[in-house]
Amino acid sequence: MALDVVAATGDLLEEILDETYPMWGEGLERAAYSKYNQAQLATPWGATHLRRVALMDEGRLLATAKRYDLTARVDGQVVRMLGLGAVFTPEAHRGHGYAAELLRRMLLEAADEGFGVALLFSEISPRYYEHLGFRRLPVNQVALSVQPGRRPGTPAIPMRSGDFGDLRSIVEMNASQSTSSRFSLVRDAEYVRHAIAKKRLLAACGRPGHRRVEFFVVEEGGRAAAYVVLLEVGDYVMITECGDRDPSGSRVGALLQAIVARDPLEPIHVRAWLPPNFLPPQLEITAHEIAPITMMMRPLGRAVWPTPPLGVTDTAWWHGDAF
Ligand SMILES: CC(C)(COP(=O)(O)OP(=O)(O)OC[C@H]1O[C@@H](n2cnc3c(N)ncnc32)[C@H](O)[C@@H]1OP(=O)(O)O)[C@@H](O)C(=O)NCCC(=O)NCCS
Repeated sequence: MALDVVAATGDLLEEILDETYPMWGEGLERAAYSKYNQAQLATPWGATHLRRVALMDEGRLLATAKRYDLTARVDGQVVRMLGLGAVFTPEAHRGHGYAAELLRRMLLEAADEGFGVALLFSEISPRYYEHLGFRRLPVNQVALSVQPGRRPGTPAIPMRSGDFGDLRSIVEMNASQSTSSRFSLVRDAEYVRHAIAKKRLLAACGRPGHRRVEFFVVEEGGRAAAYVVLLEVGDYVMITECGDRDPSGSRVGALLQAIVARDPLEPIHVRAWLPPNFLPPQLEITAHEIAPITMMMRPLGRAVWPTPPLGVTDTAWWHGDAF
């Protein structure tokens, strides 16, 4: 056997999408699933920071994964972070160690390239990735209730739809918010644009009206002073990311009050992966939930585990940053 790791493009990518569609099709048509995947690889950030790789044996696909080139801040140090996603072995080849072999090669290559940490989100038992040196990180998924405003009706705040002209303000908000956590993603403008575009693409590729993405900002002094991105499915709303120049988050709270007040008869269930020390005064946590995916990390190369171990109040990660 002559195993090779190659970049999966063209026909090989389509073969991978054929294989993975039944599992990760997200309710899309097969052609739309292709479009959704190709478009993520084609955004300015995706083209330089995301690729699909495959472990091959003389033209046979043995295992595949997505590889993200990310940057994280760990205990004040900025490190390159390998993101691993969509790990998959075609059914006929399972149980021969191919996925583990692919991951080991990706981890070694990344360590050689100077990456200091690897991160993944597991949908399967974390034990599989523990064998490869990964450990779980806590995810702070909460259900939230939005307290009604003091006056009836929609609160009067200078709110408008967000656009990519707001990216610079958003990056500044993200940076100041992440200073209070030990582990966070470093988000630059191209990354934020990609994260929002990915949610919009998913909504656009799916059944009309099934998923909705909303992006609002509060404007003050001619620039965004707070923002929120929401992914809505039925009456469930996930805050995929948000930010506020006011550390109390009061503008984000006012934005959510205004959104809820649009249709007071339609109750909505709001959720978020809430960063530490961030709870707008208009919101109340009604439940701590178990996230449907497990976040796992491991150091690479000469990097060591953060000490003490990262706890739930140490990690700031938006739902929109899961891959
Ligand atoms: C998980 C998966 C990638 C493993 O691929 P593989 O090439 O067979 O992996 P390996 O041969 O390296 O390892 C096989 C091990 O995976 C374990 N495994 C397979 N599916 C699993 C699951 N859903 N949960 C936990 N472990 C699982 C097997 O029990 C086996 O364990 P063992 O070595 O202790 O006997 C493959 O089963 C797959 O593609 N599954 C569908 C996609 C998926 O769920 N991907 C993970 C996304 S986080």
